[in-house]
Amino acid sequence: MSTVDSKLAMGLQTPCYVYDLDLLDETLRRIRNELNKHANYHQHYAIKANTDPTVLRHIAAAGFGADCVSGGEIRAALAAGFAPSEISFAGVGKADWEIRLAIESDIECFNVESIAELEVINSIAQQMNATARVCFRINPDVGAHTHANITTGLAENKFGIAREDMQKVVRLAGEMSNVKCIGLHFHIGSQILDMTDFRELCQRVNELQDELDAAGIPTMSIINVGGGLGVDYDDPDDHPYADFTAFYDTIAQTLKLREGQQLITELGRAVVAQMGSLVTKVLYVKQGSVKQFVIVDAGMTDLIRPALYGARHRIENLGAEDTTESGDISARGTATYDVVGPICESSDVFATGITLPVAKRGDYIRICSAGAYGQTMASQYNTRPLPNVVCRQNN
Ligand code: LLP
Repeated sequence: MSTVDSKLAMGLQTPCYVYDLDLLDETLRRIRNELNKHANYHQHYAIKANTDPTVLRHIAAAGFGADCVSGGEIRAALAAGFAPSEISFAGVGKADWEIRLAIESDIECFNVESIAELEVINSIAQQMNATARVCFRINPDVGAHTHANITTGLAENKFGIAREDMQKVVRLAGEMSNVKCIGLHFHIGSQILDMTDFRELCQRVNELQDELDAAGIPTMSIINVGGGLGVDYDDPDDHPYADFTAFYDTIAQTLKLREGQQLITELGRAVVAQMGSLVTKVLYVKQGSVKQFVIVDAGMTDLIRPALYGARHRIENLGAEDTTESGDISARGTATYDVVGPICESSDVFATGITLPVAKRGDYIRICSAGAYGQTMASQYNTRPLPNVVCRQNN
């Protein structure tokens, strides 16, 4: 049973993200179970997926590290209690102040994406009389079967250092005074459900490690294979947990770690997507010339995924205060709707042609799987206030 049934939605000030912390805790427990099968596996939560302070504190308290992509995320991770020694800092465009903050905070490592960036990190570390630990993000040129906007591991993508330049950058780092190269980093994309993609990534990492061995480059202590594990957006209540077993088993069966190497994963979406719902209210039901629209008070400003990626999120009509008293919403019959928001953009559409119980002004609508890349991608376009957040925990 979801934590956002019709009764629990009553009285919420909408639009509102509702986070189910019991589901989050159970998700974290399942990830921990998988990690515990291997002495040298670690998970750094990709905090870009959800940086709500309560959510971050739960994940930090469960002993995970953090993958950050900005100075703001490093600050949020530190404030939530993530250990600096478990924080990595990625991103193609790190600003000088962000590099300084990371060095001052003594985080575990930078995931470096270019020679130009390596030189800047070395020079800032020198000014600060420090040594910056770096992993190189190598573009593995491995495709992921997911949306084009969220693949990152192809040669044509902007991310990472070309694989043919790997040895050059590792040697270059060895000659620099204030950086220490400690590992390799990879990430092929997001919302990946086909384990073959992760298998191919691990095979590519094996090839790259063989190349480094053959070149006489000493073994590095960290192999970071990134995140990307997908979740079930179609049927979240029946499948609230991603297949962590398949993910970690695929890595363990394919990746050949060297003696003493630590493995890091950077799951984001799979940690937080299913614990979150965006609860919104029907403002108007409008009959257009060819379609019937349910106009809700949440918009693409609160969940941009459908507009930006054509993403599908399950949508439920939970009914209104009076329907719960007067009986079952299913007694109303159903109708076909486009569910749209109030923003002045034609792409402000959550779903088209879906069947829902007949909608009325005041009904609560639940947009499922909104825990990842919902709140963190929200904007104030149209000068809208940001939605409320309600965290629920029973256990
Ligand atoms: N590591 C790196 C280097 C990444 O770039 C990302 C996500 C992750 C880890 C976490 O990936 P996850 O486990 O969450 O798939 N806004 C998009 C997703 C963008 C992902 C960006 N990078 C969406 O809503 O689908």
